[in-house]
Amino acid sequence: PEKGVGNGALTFKPVPPNTLDSFIVPNGYDHAVVIKWGDPVVPGAPEFDLHRQSAAAQAKQFGYNNDFVGIIPLNRRRALLVVNHEYTNENLMFPGFTSQDALSVEQLKIAMAAHGMSVVELERVGGTGQWRPVDSGRRPYNRRVTANTTKFELTGPAAGSAWLRTAADPKGRTVVGTLNNCAGGVTPWGTVLSGEENFNQYFVGGDAAPEDAKPKLARYGISTSARYPSGSRKWERADERFDLAKHPNEANRHGWIVEIDPLDPESRPRKHTALGRFKHEGANVIVAKSGHVVAYMGDDERFDYLYKFVSDKKFMKGNSWVARRHNLTLLESGTLYVAKLGFTSAGEIDGSGKLPTDGAFNGTGQWIKLVSGNRSYVEGMTAADVLTFTRLAGDKVGATKMDRPEDVEPSLLTGKVYVALTNNSARGTGSNPKADEANPRNANKHGQILELVEHRGDNTADTFTWSLPIVAGDPADPSTYFAGYDKAKVSPISCPDNVAFDATGNLWISTDGNALGSNDGLFATAVEGPERGHLKQFLTVPVGAEACGPFITGDNRSVFVAVQHPGELDGASVENPASNWPDGDYAKPAVVITWRLDGAPIGS
Ligand code: FEO
Ligand code: CA
Ligand code: CA
Ligand code: CA
Repeated sequence: PEKGVGNGALTFKPVPPNTLDSFIVPNGYDHAVVIKWGDPVVPGAPEFDLHRQSAAAQAKQFGYNNDFVGIIPLNRRRALLVVNHEYTNENLMFPGFTSQDALSVEQLKIAMAAHGMSVVELERVGGTGQWRPVDSGRRPYNRRVTANTTKFELTGPAAGSAWLRTAADPKGRTVVGTLNNCAGGVTPWGTVLSGEENFNQYFVGGDAAPEDAKPKLARYGISTSARYPSGSRKWERADERFDLAKHPNEANRHGWIVEIDPLDPESRPRKHTALGRFKHEGANVIVAKSGHVVAYMGDDERFDYLYKFVSDKKFMKGNSWVARRHNLTLLESGTLYVAKLGFTSAGEIDGSGKLPTDGAFNGTGQWIKLVSGNRSYVEGMTAADVLTFTRLAGDKVGATKMDRPEDVEPSLLTGKVYVALTNNSARGTGSNPKADEANPRNANKHGQILELVEHRGDNTADTFTWSLPIVAGDPADPSTYFAGYDKAKVSPISCPDNVAFDATGNLWISTDGNALGSNDGLFATAVEGPERGHLKQFLTVPVGAEACGPFITGDNRSVFVAVQHPGELDGASVENPASNWPDGDYAKPAVVITWRLDGAPIGS
């Protein structure tokens, strides 16, 4: 890469690990809540009232458990904030909560309306890096998408297939709602991709599903045993489509990548079957040198896989109506690949995390073609089979079983791809796969970052090389690795989940479930040059929270972070909160903006 790319100045003083019930930023920075659970989104939304919630109100208000954050600029002073609402913590939402079984149907419907996505128009505060919601006048872009209010269009080769047909949708082409939207990405054409992740938890009745459907349900984490039913959310009491005994294909209609066009509030969100179905963490797109677009994706489950999609059509530059219309079709047809890794030091890996004698965890890899258009490359599976039951296709072709692939994101400046592998407590236990060079620790508590470099820098290539720049944990732990950087200067990090880049190409990593006992947070490191591996903690989030997003604006002046599930600790409730953030009473998930007081770039 060019000088300075991936190696921007990160001179901020790191925030030390802590367990404070606060949002902590470095000296010289300030932060503010942008929007929180219950705030009005759609004009006409009622003010939030904890004791008088309704599904109709929640469907117009900011949802729960904000995860992905994307910013789409409208001009220098206005932008659209697009946020995923992954799931709900009913014990922290409803006063007097006792159990999921005891929730009223209206409360279940509130939870459904608290899922999905929000689009919120923002304005810059003065000339600073702070942004806030536009709270007066017309807000034509503001929008909520939920689990039950919006009709989604299925696109691609599996749309209309028998696997996707239900009584409510005999053609298999439209789906009600979106579930468990986790991470995502902003596309080069200004739309947002959102991953439907742990959709299995919404469904019951797997034991009564047809026999031939059971192995497929089981591979996606839906119980087929009456004794240990799935469906911990109990939504089937509010809507029978979540009961697989009645609607055995409904689960197949979730677990996709959703594309939403925030610039067109009337547009229907789409679920793109060409990108496969699994527990999609998210998807991030880069335009390859050839003009084809490439989406990188992870399946967040222990021992699941890393994928990429290459479009058939090429990206059309410019903001013309013709270009926009064309680019909106790019994810509807293409080729889906799964990653198989090769290892250079396989014999030396003992599961302890000890660095091989060649000085690196590294190797080669190939992208195995699963399906291209309507043509399947997997024996015994049609294209619709492969796309709907992608995990089974990955199993058949011998894809590499990874330590929970979360966010997978290419640097738009270098084309290199970074994978957050969050942890894998089951690695090397019982009959499970043992450590390998890319997943080098058994009972992996802290996770690692994988860097993938495509052959000749071509993101459409069939082969790649890879290495681990970071093996996470306390730097004092000999099983950690920070690209060879002086560990005394590195911040402890555990359970990387989301990755992002600043304007100079530094890598930013947020965490979920810090197994070192401190709060989660956001970290930054150079990935090129002498500072590669000099990881520093930039901020920490309150008690019980996960740091999601993050998103750094293109002008490098603002960092957005989603504080997800603050106060999510055993035994916590509205009346007995484990966190009082952000208002001093009960905990509320919120999106937070951080900026430098003197207007200098983020990271300096
Ligand atoms: Fe929803 Fe994989 O994090
Ligand atoms: Ca995540
Ligand atoms: Ca990301
Ligand atoms: Ca996670």
